[in-house]
Amino acid sequence: MERMGWVINQLPKTDDCHLALMSEERVRQAQEFHSSIPGYAATPLASLRNMAGYLGIKGLFVKDESNRFGLGAFKVLGGSYAISRFIAEKTGRAALGYEELTSARLREELGQFTFFTATDGNHGRGVAWAARRLGQKAVVFMPKGSTQPRLQHILDEGAKATIEEGNYDDCVRLAADAAAQTPNSVVIQDTAWEGYELIPGWIMQGYGTMAWEAALQLRLAGVKKPSHIFVQAGVGSLAAAVQGYFANLFPQSPPKVIIAEASAADCLYRGAAAGDGGYRIVEGDIQTIMAGLACGSPNIVAWDILKNHSACFLSCPDWVAARGMRMLGVPLKGDPTVISGESGAVCMGALAAITQFDEYRELREALALDEQSVVLTFSTEGNTDPHYFRRIVWDGKFPAEIG
Ligand SMILES: Cc1ncc(COP(=O)(O)O)c(C=O)c1O
Repeated sequence: MERMGWVINQLPKTDDCHLALMSEERVRQAQEFHSSIPGYAATPLASLRNMAGYLGIKGLFVKDESNRFGLGAFKVLGGSYAISRFIAEKTGRAALGYEELTSARLREELGQFTFFTATDGNHGRGVAWAARRLGQKAVVFMPKGSTQPRLQHILDEGAKATIEEGNYDDCVRLAADAAAQTPNSVVIQDTAWEGYELIPGWIMQGYGTMAWEAALQLRLAGVKKPSHIFVQAGVGSLAAAVQGYFANLFPQSPPKVIIAEASAADCLYRGAAAGDGGYRIVEGDIQTIMAGLACGSPNIVAWDILKNHSACFLSCPDWVAARGMRMLGVPLKGDPTVISGESGAVCMGALAAITQFDEYRELREALALDEQSVVLTFSTEGNTDPHYFRRIVWDGKFPAEIG
C-alpha cells in the first residue's frame, strides 16, 4: 500500500505580512455578507464522540459543508464574497449586501459583465451560481479528466463551461487570456500569483466564514480551542484561510494545523520537504480521485501563511480519502453521518491513519495527538460526483490494505 508522506514544518519564516488578511475583523465582514444572502445558515458541526474514543482522542468535530447554499461544497463562500467586493470597488462603495448587489439599479450601473474562472468543479459552480443571481455571465474552464456531473452542475447554473485538454494550471491561464480579450470582464480565480492577489485574498476571506462558524460552534459545544486542526489543500487558499483565521484568533497558543494534500498534487508538501522556503510545482496530468485537490501550483499568499504557521504537511494517496469517505458515511453507533466526497474526506482518513496505524506512531507523537486532543476537521464537500461516490463507498474502490 502506498504510504502517506509527512513532513514536520521546519521552513524558514518570513515577515508574515499576509496573516492580517485573515484577521477576525475581515472575516467577520465576509460572514456579514454571507448572512445577507437568502437561505444562509451555518453548516453543521458534527461531533463524532464515539469515533474520537475509537481513535484514542478526546474529541472530534467535523464541519460538514455538504449542503452549503445547496451547492454541495464550501467553495461558493469564496467566489460570492470576491464578486461582491469586486463590484463594491468598481461602483465606489465600501461594501455591498446581497439585496443591493442584486438590485436592478446596480445592474444598470455595472452593465453586462463576464466572470471568468478555472475550476475542478466546486469553485466554478459557486462563481456560476453568484453570476446568475447578479444577472451576469460566467465562463468556466475545467481541466482534462473533469467528470460529466461536475460539468453539468456548472451548466445548470447557466454558465458557459468546457472541459479542456490541460490541467488546472493550464485552465487558469486560459481563463486569464480569455478575460484579457473580453471587455467588461474579470478573472475570479481561487489562487494568487505575482500581481494577482487582491481577488484571491477576498476569496480566502470568504472561506473564513466557515472557520468563523466552526469557532463559534465549538465554543457553544464547550470547546474554547481545538488542539489540532486538519485541513485539506489544493492550491492552499482554503488551508491558509483556516490557518490564518485560527492563528489570529489564538495568537499566543494557536492550534496545531495539519495540511493534507493529494499525493498526486502535493506541491506544498514538496516545498516543506525541500525545506528551503520555496514552493514546488507538480506538472502534467494529475491523477487522483480528489478532484478539488488536483492543483500543482500553490497560491503564493497561502504558501506564505502556511509556512509560517502550519505544524505539518501530509501527502495522501487516494486510499486515505476513500477510507475517510467510508468512515464518515458509516459512522460508529450514536455518531452522526457525514456524507463526504473525495476531497472532503481526506482529513478524516489522514487523522484515522495517524491515530490507528503503527507506522505513523512517530508522527502521532510529534504532533502530540493523544487522549487530551480535540480535533477539528473540515468535510469540504458532500456527494458532488455520485458515480465515483458509489464506486468508492458501495463498491469499495481504493481499499486500504490493512490488518
Ligand atoms: C471540496 C474541496 N475541498 C478542498 C479544496 C481545496 O481548496 P484550495 O484549492 O483552496 O486549497 C477544493 C478546491 O477546489 C475543493 O473543491
